Amino acid sequence: MSGGDRKKTACVTGGNGYIASVLIKMLLEKGYAVKTTVRNPDDMAKNSHLKDLQAVGPLTVLRADLLEEGSFDEAVAGSDYVFLVAAPVNLHSKNPEKELIEPAVRGILNVMRSCAKAGTVKRVILTSSVAAVTGRPLQGGVHVLDEKSWTDVEYLTANKSSHWAYPASKVLLEKEACRFAAEHRISLVTVCPVTTVGAAPAPKVRTSVPNCLSLLSGDEAEFAVLDANERATGCVPLVHVDDLCRAELFVAEEDAAAGRYICCSLNTTIAELARFLADKYPQYGVKTNLLSGERLQKPRVRLSSEKLVREGFEFRYRTLDDMYDDMVEYGKALGILPT
Ligand SMILES: NC(=O)c1ccc[n+]([C@@H]2O[C@H](COP(=O)([O-])OP(=O)(O)OC[C@H]3O[C@@H](n4cnc5c(N)ncnc54)[C@H](OP(=O)(O)O)[C@@H]3O)[C@@H](O)[C@H]2O)c1
Repeated sequence: MSGGDRKKTACVTGGNGYIASVLIKMLLEKGYAVKTTVRNPDDMAKNSHLKDLQAVGPLTVLRADLLEEGSFDEAVAGSDYVFLVAAPVNLHSKNPEKELIEPAVRGILNVMRSCAKAGTVKRVILTSSVAAVTGRPLQGGVHVLDEKSWTDVEYLTANKSSHWAYPASKVLLEKEACRFAAEHRISLVTVCPVTTVGAAPAPKVRTSVPNCLSLLSGDEAEFAVLDANERATGCVPLVHVDDLCRAELFVAEEDAAAGRYICCSLNTTIAELARFLADKYPQYGVKTNLLSGERLQKPRVRLSSEKLVREGFEFRYRTLDDMYDDMVEYGKALGILPT
Protein backbone atom coordinates (compact mmCIF):
# COMPACT_ATOMS: atom_id res chain seq x y z
CA MET A 1 0.00 0.00 0.00
CA SER A 2 1.46 3.41 -0.88
CA GLY A 3 1.80 6.06 1.88
CA GLY A 4 -1.26 7.94 0.56
CA ASP A 5 -3.48 4.84 0.79
CA ARG A 6 -2.50 4.00 4.34
CA LYS A 7 -5.51 3.80 6.61
CA LYS A 8 -5.43 6.37 9.38
CA THR A 9 -4.82 4.63 12.70
CA ALA A 10 -6.55 5.45 15.96
CA CYS A 11 -5.75 4.07 19.39
CA VAL A 12 -8.60 3.87 21.92
CA THR A 13 -7.71 3.03 25.53
CA GLY A 14 -10.07 0.84 27.58
CA GLY A 15 -11.87 -0.91 24.69
CA ASN A 16 -14.10 -3.00 26.94
CA GLY A 17 -15.67 0.16 28.40
CA TYR A 18 -19.11 1.54 27.53
CA ILE A 19 -18.11 4.74 25.69
CA ALA A 20 -14.97 3.24 24.13
CA SER A 21 -17.00 0.40 22.56
CA VAL A 22 -19.11 2.89 20.59
CA LEU A 23 -16.08 4.96 19.62
CA ILE A 24 -14.23 1.89 18.28
CA LYS A 25 -17.25 0.86 16.18
CA MET A 26 -17.60 4.38 14.78
CA LEU A 27 -13.90 4.65 13.92
CA LEU A 28 -13.95 1.27 12.14
CA GLU A 29 -17.07 2.27 10.20
CA LYS A 30 -15.29 5.47 9.13
CA GLY A 31 -12.39 3.44 7.71
CA TYR A 32 -9.85 3.81 10.50
CA ALA A 33 -7.55 1.01 11.58
CA VAL A 34 -8.06 0.78 15.34
CA LYS A 35 -5.82 -0.43 18.13
CA THR A 36 -7.43 -0.78 21.51
CA THR A 37 -6.24 -1.79 24.96
CA VAL A 38 -7.87 -3.82 27.71
CA ARG A 39 -6.47 -5.01 31.03
CA ASN A 40 -7.36 -8.65 30.43
CA PRO A 41 -7.80 -9.66 26.76
CA ASP A 42 -8.89 -13.21 27.76
CA ASP A 43 -11.92 -12.01 29.73
CA MET A 44 -14.60 -12.75 27.14
CA ALA A 45 -17.43 -11.71 29.47
CA LYS A 46 -16.11 -8.14 29.05
CA ASN A 47 -14.53 -8.32 25.57
CA SER A 48 -16.82 -10.45 23.36
CA HIS A 49 -17.97 -7.35 21.43
CA LEU A 50 -14.38 -6.65 20.37
CA LYS A 51 -14.30 -10.01 18.56
CA ASP A 52 -17.55 -9.05 16.76
CA LEU A 53 -16.15 -5.61 15.88
CA GLN A 54 -13.17 -7.24 14.16
CA ALA A 55 -15.65 -8.12 11.39
CA VAL A 56 -16.32 -4.39 10.84
CA GLY A 57 -12.68 -3.41 10.19
CA PRO A 58 -9.06 -3.84 11.23
CA LEU A 59 -9.11 -3.91 15.04
CA THR A 60 -6.17 -5.03 17.17
CA VAL A 61 -6.68 -5.72 20.87
CA LEU A 62 -3.65 -5.30 23.13
CA ARG A 63 -3.11 -5.67 26.86
CA ALA A 64 -2.27 -2.53 28.81
CA ASP A 65 -2.70 -1.21 32.35
CA LEU A 66 -2.62 2.46 33.31
CA LEU A 67 -0.46 1.60 36.30
CA GLU A 68 2.29 -0.21 34.35
CA GLU A 69 4.87 2.19 33.01
CA GLY A 70 5.32 1.84 29.24
CA SER A 71 2.33 -0.50 28.99
CA PHE A 72 0.71 1.57 26.20
CA ASP A 73 3.83 1.97 24.03
CA GLU A 74 2.84 -0.75 21.55
CA ALA A 75 -0.79 0.40 21.25
CA VAL A 76 0.15 4.04 20.68
CA ALA A 77 3.10 3.40 18.32
CA GLY A 78 2.16 4.34 14.73
CA SER A 79 -1.18 5.92 15.75
CA ASP A 80 -2.38 9.19 14.20
CA TYR A 81 -4.97 9.81 16.91
CA VAL A 82 -5.04 8.58 20.49
CA PHE A 83 -8.34 8.62 22.38
CA LEU A 84 -7.74 8.43 26.14
CA VAL A 85 -10.96 6.90 27.45
CA ALA A 86 -9.76 4.43 30.11
CA ALA A 87 -9.73 5.82 33.64
CA PRO A 88 -10.57 4.58 37.12
CA VAL A 89 -14.30 5.21 37.67
CA ASN A 90 -14.70 3.42 41.02
CA LEU A 91 -17.03 5.78 42.90
CA HIS A 92 -17.30 3.59 46.00
CA SER A 93 -13.64 3.17 46.85
CA LYS A 94 -12.77 3.12 50.58
CA ASN A 95 -9.42 4.79 49.92
CA PRO A 96 -10.10 7.11 46.96
CA GLU A 97 -6.81 9.03 47.15
CA LYS A 98 -4.90 5.77 46.57
CA GLU A 99 -7.43 3.90 44.40
CA LEU A 100 -8.89 6.68 42.25
CA ILE A 101 -6.97 9.97 42.27
CA GLU A 102 -3.42 8.64 42.25
CA PRO A 103 -3.98 5.99 39.52
CA ALA A 104 -5.96 8.48 37.39
CA VAL A 105 -3.11 10.99 37.33
CA ARG A 106 -0.30 8.43 37.11
CA GLY A 107 -2.20 6.58 34.38
CA ILE A 108 -2.80 9.58 32.16
CA LEU A 109 0.85 10.62 32.36
CA ASN A 110 1.90 7.07 31.56
CA VAL A 111 -0.11 7.09 28.28
CA MET A 112 0.97 10.66 27.47
CA ARG A 113 4.61 9.51 27.74
CA SER A 114 3.83 6.73 25.23
CA CYS A 115 2.35 9.41 22.90
CA ALA A 116 5.49 11.53 23.18
CA LYS A 117 7.69 8.48 22.46
CA ALA A 118 5.64 7.38 19.43
CA GLY A 119 6.33 10.53 17.43
CA THR A 120 3.39 9.75 15.05
CA VAL A 121 0.51 11.17 17.07
CA LYS A 122 -1.25 14.12 15.42
CA ARG A 123 -3.68 14.64 18.26
CA VAL A 124 -4.62 13.21 21.64
CA ILE A 125 -8.30 13.37 22.57
CA LEU A 126 -8.83 13.14 26.31
CA THR A 127 -12.19 12.08 27.71
CA SER A 128 -12.51 14.06 30.92
CA SER A 129 -15.94 14.72 32.44
CA VAL A 130 -18.43 17.37 33.34
CA ALA A 131 -17.39 16.41 36.87
CA ALA A 132 -14.27 18.51 36.17
CA VAL A 133 -16.52 21.51 35.37
CA THR A 134 -19.35 21.65 37.89
CA GLY A 135 -17.90 20.95 41.36
CA ARG A 136 -17.78 24.47 42.80
CA PRO A 137 -19.93 26.57 45.08
CA LEU A 138 -22.83 28.25 43.27
CA GLN A 139 -25.13 30.92 44.63
CA GLY A 140 -28.41 32.40 43.48
CA GLY A 141 -30.43 31.62 40.34
CA VAL A 142 -29.76 29.58 37.22
CA HIS A 143 -26.10 29.29 36.19
CA VAL A 144 -24.82 28.56 32.69
CA LEU A 145 -21.46 26.78 32.89
CA ASP A 146 -19.09 26.59 29.94
CA GLU A 147 -15.51 25.40 29.38
CA LYS A 148 -14.08 28.23 31.51
CA SER A 149 -15.60 26.68 34.61
CA TRP A 150 -13.37 24.32 36.61
CA THR A 151 -14.29 22.15 39.53
CA ASP A 152 -12.67 23.51 42.67
CA VAL A 153 -10.57 20.70 44.17
CA GLU A 154 -10.01 22.58 47.45
CA TYR A 155 -13.77 22.99 47.86
CA LEU A 156 -14.26 19.26 47.16
CA THR A 157 -11.57 18.11 49.58
CA ALA A 158 -12.80 20.49 52.29
CA ASN A 159 -16.38 19.19 52.01
CA LYS A 160 -15.73 15.54 51.03
CA SER A 161 -19.37 15.04 50.06
CA SER A 162 -20.27 11.67 48.52
CA HIS A 163 -18.20 10.78 45.41
CA TRP A 164 -15.95 13.84 45.88
CA ALA A 165 -12.85 11.98 44.67
CA TYR A 166 -14.10 11.24 41.12
CA PRO A 167 -14.45 14.94 40.15
CA ALA A 168 -11.14 15.68 41.87
CA SER A 169 -9.46 12.90 39.85
CA LYS A 170 -10.88 14.31 36.61
CA VAL A 171 -9.63 17.86 37.27
CA LEU A 172 -6.19 16.69 38.31
CA LEU A 173 -5.73 14.29 35.38
CA GLU A 174 -7.01 16.90 32.91
CA LYS A 175 -4.59 19.54 34.21
CA GLU A 176 -1.64 17.13 34.25
CA ALA A 177 -2.41 15.97 30.69
CA CYS A 178 -2.56 19.63 29.51
CA ARG A 179 0.70 20.46 31.25
CA PHE A 180 2.47 17.44 29.75
CA ALA A 181 1.05 18.14 26.26
CA ALA A 182 2.23 21.77 26.34
CA GLU A 183 5.69 20.73 27.57
CA HIS A 184 6.06 18.09 24.81
CA ARG A 185 4.26 20.04 22.06
CA ILE A 186 1.52 17.44 21.70
CA SER A 187 -1.85 18.60 20.32
CA LEU A 188 -4.35 17.72 23.05
CA VAL A 189 -8.09 18.34 22.93
CA THR A 190 -10.31 17.53 25.91
CA VAL A 191 -13.94 16.47 25.78
CA CYS A 192 -15.99 16.84 28.97
CA PRO A 193 -19.03 14.59 28.50
CA VAL A 194 -22.07 14.87 30.70
CA THR A 195 -24.03 11.79 31.82
CA THR A 196 -24.02 9.53 28.80
CA VAL A 197 -26.94 7.36 27.70
CA GLY A 198 -27.88 5.08 24.79
CA ALA A 199 -27.03 1.62 23.52
CA ALA A 200 -23.46 0.42 22.95
CA PRO A 201 -21.75 -2.79 21.81
CA ALA A 202 -20.27 -3.37 25.32
CA PRO A 203 -21.90 -6.44 26.92
CA LYS A 204 -21.32 -5.24 30.51
CA VAL A 205 -21.87 -1.69 31.70
CA ARG A 206 -21.42 -0.28 35.18
CA THR A 207 -21.54 3.52 34.87
CA SER A 208 -24.21 5.89 33.53
CA VAL A 209 -26.53 3.34 31.89
CA PRO A 210 -27.58 1.56 35.12
CA ASN A 211 -27.75 4.99 36.89
CA CYS A 212 -30.09 6.40 34.24
CA LEU A 213 -32.31 3.30 34.15
CA SER A 214 -32.61 3.15 37.96
CA LEU A 215 -36.01 4.86 38.05
CA LEU A 216 -37.32 1.91 35.99
CA SER A 217 -35.17 -0.87 37.49
CA GLY A 218 -35.70 0.28 41.10
CA ASP A 219 -31.99 -0.25 41.87
CA GLU A 220 -31.47 1.96 44.92
CA ALA A 221 -27.67 2.04 44.79
CA GLU A 222 -27.71 3.14 41.13
CA PHE A 223 -30.39 5.74 41.87
CA ALA A 224 -28.25 7.09 44.73
CA VAL A 225 -25.49 7.88 42.20
CA LEU A 226 -27.91 9.69 39.88
CA ASP A 227 -29.34 11.58 42.85
CA ALA A 228 -25.88 12.54 44.18
CA ASN A 229 -24.94 13.77 40.69
CA GLU A 230 -28.04 15.95 40.50
CA ARG A 231 -27.30 17.40 43.95
CA ALA A 232 -23.66 18.06 43.07
CA THR A 233 -24.38 19.44 39.60
CA GLY A 234 -27.71 21.26 39.99
CA CYS A 235 -29.22 19.33 37.06
CA VAL A 236 -29.09 16.03 35.19
CA PRO A 237 -27.19 16.88 32.00
CA LEU A 238 -27.46 14.23 29.29
CA VAL A 239 -25.84 13.31 25.99
CA HIS A 240 -26.40 10.29 23.76
CA VAL A 241 -23.32 8.10 23.39
CA ASP A 242 -23.48 8.31 19.57
CA ASP A 243 -23.38 12.12 19.74
CA LEU A 244 -20.53 11.98 22.25
CA CYS A 245 -18.42 9.69 20.04
CA ARG A 246 -19.23 11.79 16.93
CA ALA A 247 -18.05 14.83 18.91
CA GLU A 248 -14.81 13.03 19.88
CA LEU A 249 -14.16 12.31 16.20
CA PHE A 250 -15.10 15.85 15.22
CA VAL A 251 -12.57 17.43 17.57
CA ALA A 252 -9.94 14.90 16.47
CA GLU A 253 -10.34 15.65 12.77
CA GLU A 254 -10.98 19.42 12.90
CA ASP A 255 -7.54 21.04 12.70
CA ALA A 256 -8.74 24.18 14.47
CA ALA A 257 -10.18 22.34 17.49
CA ALA A 258 -8.40 23.30 20.71
CA GLY A 259 -8.87 23.28 24.46
CA ARG A 260 -11.91 21.86 26.27
CA TYR A 261 -15.34 20.97 24.87
CA ILE A 262 -18.37 20.32 27.04
CA CYS A 263 -20.53 17.69 25.33
CA CYS A 264 -24.14 18.08 26.46
CA SER A 265 -27.37 18.20 24.48
CA LEU A 266 -30.01 18.33 27.21
CA ASN A 267 -30.21 19.65 30.78
CA THR A 268 -32.99 18.09 32.83
CA THR A 269 -33.82 16.95 36.38
CA ILE A 270 -34.75 13.65 38.00
CA ALA A 271 -38.30 14.99 38.47
CA GLU A 272 -38.65 15.70 34.73
CA LEU A 273 -37.05 12.36 33.87
CA ALA A 274 -39.48 10.52 36.17
CA ARG A 275 -42.50 12.17 34.47
CA PHE A 276 -41.13 11.30 31.02
CA LEU A 277 -40.38 7.66 31.92
CA ALA A 278 -43.75 7.16 33.63
CA ASP A 279 -45.47 8.34 30.48
CA LYS A 280 -43.30 6.47 27.95
CA TYR A 281 -42.80 3.15 29.75
CA PRO A 282 -45.96 2.46 31.79
CA GLN A 283 -45.15 -1.28 31.59
CA TYR A 284 -42.21 -0.75 34.00
CA GLY A 285 -43.70 1.89 36.24
CA VAL A 286 -41.44 4.52 37.74
CA LYS A 287 -40.35 3.51 41.25
CA THR A 288 -41.79 6.57 42.95
CA ASN A 289 -40.55 5.41 46.38
CA LEU A 290 -37.10 6.60 45.23
CA LEU A 291 -38.39 10.14 44.77
CA SER A 292 -39.30 11.02 48.37
CA GLY A 293 -38.36 14.44 49.80
CA GLU A 294 -38.08 17.77 48.08
CA ARG A 295 -36.94 17.51 44.48
CA LEU A 296 -35.39 19.95 42.05
CA GLN A 297 -38.06 20.62 39.42
CA LYS A 298 -36.09 22.65 36.84
CA PRO A 299 -32.29 22.67 36.26
CA ARG A 300 -30.42 25.17 38.48
CA VAL A 301 -27.39 24.79 36.27
CA ARG A 302 -27.19 24.47 32.51
CA LEU A 303 -24.13 22.97 30.85
CA SER A 304 -23.43 24.71 27.57
CA SER A 305 -22.02 23.03 24.45
CA GLU A 306 -22.18 26.29 22.54
CA LYS A 307 -18.45 26.10 21.71
CA LEU A 308 -18.84 22.70 20.01
CA VAL A 309 -21.92 23.82 18.08
CA ARG A 310 -20.36 27.17 17.09
CA GLU A 311 -17.43 25.26 15.58
CA GLY A 312 -19.78 23.17 13.39
CA PHE A 313 -20.89 20.13 15.42
CA GLU A 314 -24.55 19.08 15.28
CA PHE A 315 -26.24 17.01 17.98
CA ARG A 316 -28.66 14.38 16.65
CA TYR A 317 -30.27 13.36 19.95
CA ARG A 318 -31.85 16.38 21.61
CA THR A 319 -34.91 15.18 23.53
CA LEU A 320 -35.50 12.58 26.25
CA ASP A 321 -37.48 10.63 23.65
CA ASP A 322 -34.43 10.49 21.33
CA MET A 323 -32.08 9.67 24.19
CA TYR A 324 -34.06 6.81 25.71
CA ASP A 325 -35.16 5.25 22.43
CA ASP A 326 -32.50 2.51 22.44
CA MET A 327 -31.77 2.56 26.21
CA VAL A 328 -34.59 0.32 27.32
CA GLU A 329 -33.74 -2.42 24.79
CA TYR A 330 -30.08 -2.13 25.82
CA GLY A 331 -31.08 -2.28 29.50
CA LYS A 332 -32.95 -5.52 28.78
CA ALA A 333 -29.95 -6.99 26.92
CA LEU A 334 -27.70 -6.10 29.88
CA GLY A 335 -30.10 -7.68 32.39
CA ILE A 336 -30.82 -4.33 34.10
CA LEU A 337 -34.49 -4.43 33.10
CA PRO A 338 -36.70 -7.50 32.84
CA THR A 339 -37.45 -8.71 29.28
N1 LIG B 1 -20.48 7.25 31.30
C1 LIG B 1 -20.58 8.54 31.55
O1 LIG B 1 -21.68 9.08 31.77
C2 LIG B 1 -19.36 9.41 31.56
C3 LIG B 1 -19.54 10.81 31.66
C4 LIG B 1 -18.42 11.63 31.66
C5 LIG B 1 -17.16 11.09 31.53
N2 LIG B 1 -17.00 9.74 31.44
C6 LIG B 1 -15.63 9.23 31.31
O2 LIG B 1 -15.57 8.44 30.15
C7 LIG B 1 -14.61 7.39 30.33
C8 LIG B 1 -15.26 6.05 30.04
O3 LIG B 1 -16.38 5.90 30.91
P1 LIG B 1 -17.39 4.68 30.75
O4 LIG B 1 -18.70 5.15 31.26
O5 LIG B 1 -17.29 4.10 29.40
O6 LIG B 1 -16.79 3.72 31.89
P2 LIG B 1 -16.35 2.18 31.85
O7 LIG B 1 -17.25 1.41 30.97
O8 LIG B 1 -16.21 1.73 33.27
O9 LIG B 1 -14.91 2.29 31.19
C9 LIG B 1 -13.77 2.60 31.94
C10 LIG B 1 -12.61 1.88 31.32
O10 LIG B 1 -11.39 2.25 32.00
C11 LIG B 1 -10.65 1.06 32.21
N3 LIG B 1 -9.72 1.16 33.33
C12 LIG B 1 -9.96 1.50 34.61
N4 LIG B 1 -8.83 1.42 35.33
C13 LIG B 1 -7.85 1.03 34.48
C14 LIG B 1 -6.47 0.74 34.61
N5 LIG B 1 -5.81 0.83 35.78
N6 LIG B 1 -5.76 0.35 33.51
C15 LIG B 1 -6.37 0.23 32.31
N7 LIG B 1 -7.69 0.45 32.12
C16 LIG B 1 -8.41 0.85 33.19
C17 LIG B 1 -11.71 0.00 32.48
O11 LIG B 1 -11.14 -1.29 32.34
P3 LIG B 1 -11.63 -2.52 33.30
O12 LIG B 1 -12.93 -2.99 32.73
O13 LIG B 1 -10.52 -3.50 33.17
O14 LIG B 1 -11.79 -1.95 34.68
C18 LIG B 1 -12.73 0.36 31.40
O15 LIG B 1 -12.35 -0.17 30.16
C19 LIG B 1 -14.08 7.52 31.74
O16 LIG B 1 -12.87 8.25 31.68
C20 LIG B 1 -15.16 8.33 32.44
O17 LIG B 1 -14.63 9.08 33.50
C21 LIG B 1 -18.06 8.88 31.45
